[in-house]
Parts: sequence; structure tokens; C-alpha cells
Amino acid sequence: MTKLTIVGVGPGSPDYVIPAARKAVQDAQIVIGSERSLLLFQEEIQGEAVELTSKNLEDVLKYAQAAEKKGKKVVLLSTGDPGFSGLLGSVLSRIYGKNEVTVIPGVSSIQVCAARLGMCWEDAVLFTFHNGVEEKKKEALFEAVKAAKAVFLLPEPKMFKPADIAAFLIKKGVDQMVKVVVCENLTLTNERVVESTLAEAAQQSFSPLCVMVIQGKNLPNG
Ligand SMILES: C[S@@+](CC[C@H](N)C(=O)[O-])C[C@H]1O[C@@H](n2cnc3c(N)ncnc32)[C@H](O)[C@@H]1O
Repeated sequence: MTKLTIVGVGPGSPDYVIPAARKAVQDAQIVIGSERSLLLFQEEIQGEAVELTSKNLEDVLKYAQAAEKKGKKVVLLSTGDPGFSGLLGSVLSRIYGKNEVTVIPGVSSIQVCAARLGMCWEDAVLFTFHNGVEEKKKEALFEAVKAAKAVFLLPEPKMFKPADIAAFLIKKGVDQMVKVVVCENLTLTNERVVESTLAEAAQQSFSPLCVMVIQGKNLPNG
């Protein structure tokens, strides 16, 4: 059986798709991806293109497995990097094991965000709320901010937007003047980098496609 190849497609612009991703797509008999991801490979797709929606992941993975059993090369496109809040986790938690996938990395929205801000991020703390807004994770976010860490996070676009995150931290006692940057639509023509404070961010709305950066600060009472 051939392995499923999960390909990172970067944050949106074709300029941020790596050549190895294009090659994997050219070699595939079946390419699965969201409408936005498939569009990035219009010139490369030689085989069948299968659109991935929010509802058909299970069915599409079964289809992929059946095709692989027949010896077909199948590629699954994942925005950004597949391993950060991407499709790698969704695939591994379903029908595939670690040895049944090949991963081609992609440029993550987190990397582009750090680049835009000229920030080193080896000591930063990363969070994603994209796949769930659990209380435990919210507490961990608060602890990271309280420990004066630089935090990069992917908000949840409906239930835990940047404004909700800012309001949550303020309610927990974090200084309202703590610096916040929201990077919207990175690499796309409507890219925007908005610098503010927690207090200001709590009053603003942003594109759902955004990365939030919070420069944490120790609380006065520890
Ligand atoms: C399902 S997660 C995928 C993350 C992806 N694997 C990565 O490495 O960037 C989708 C979230 O990533 C962030 N994101 C993806 N593309 C982005 C972009 N071009 N600009 C800003 N944020 C982006 C947004 O927070 C979006 O809601």
C-alpha cells in the first residue's frame, strides 16, 4: 500500500508554496483539498481533484485509502504546515497511523507572522484554539501571558476571537496595556498587521484568517 502524502500549501499566496509541494501534486493521481488549496495548484494537478469540505473528511479519507490500496498516489493538501493545527492531526486521529503518511512541510501562518514582526520565535509559546476552546487551554494561555512569554495563537473564528481572548485575559487580571498584534490575511493582497493593546483589541473585530501575538507581562502580584 502506498502512503498518503499530506502536503503543506502555505498561508495562501502561491509565492509561499514550496517546490516539493508542487512536485508531489504533479505526481499524484488524486489530489484532495479545500477549494482555496486546489486553486493554488491549477497548473500542476494532472489527476483527479477532490474537494474537501467541512463535512466530508471521513468519506474522503476512506476514498483515499481505497485508492491507495489500488496503488494510486494520493495527496492531501493542508493549509500552512500540516503539523500545526492542520490536517495531519485530523488524519492521524482517524484512520491513518504514523507510518502510513508522508508529510511535506509548508510555511505556517505562525512563521509568516513572526517574519512580518521581525521576531525570533524559539522561546515563544504557541497555541491554537482552532480545534477547540477548552478551559484547560485558556488557563494555559493565561499562565503563559502571566509568565511574560511571547504568545502566538490561532484564535477560534467564532467562539474565541481576538476580542474574546483580550477580554478573557483582562478579566483574569492581565494589564490592559499589554501589547497585542493581530496579523490578518498573511501573504494575501489584503494582508494587515494591526498593533494595539489588550484593551483596544477587546473592542475590535478582525478577519477570521488571523494570527494573534501577545507580549505577556508578569502580573504585579505574581
Ligand atoms: C485550521 S488552522 C490551519 C493552520 C495552518 N496549519 C498553519 O500552519 O498556518 C486555520 C487558521 O490558521 C490561521 N491562518 C491560516 N492562514 C492564515 C493567513 N494567511 N493569515 C493569517 N492567519 C492564517 C487562521 O487563524 C486560521 O483560522
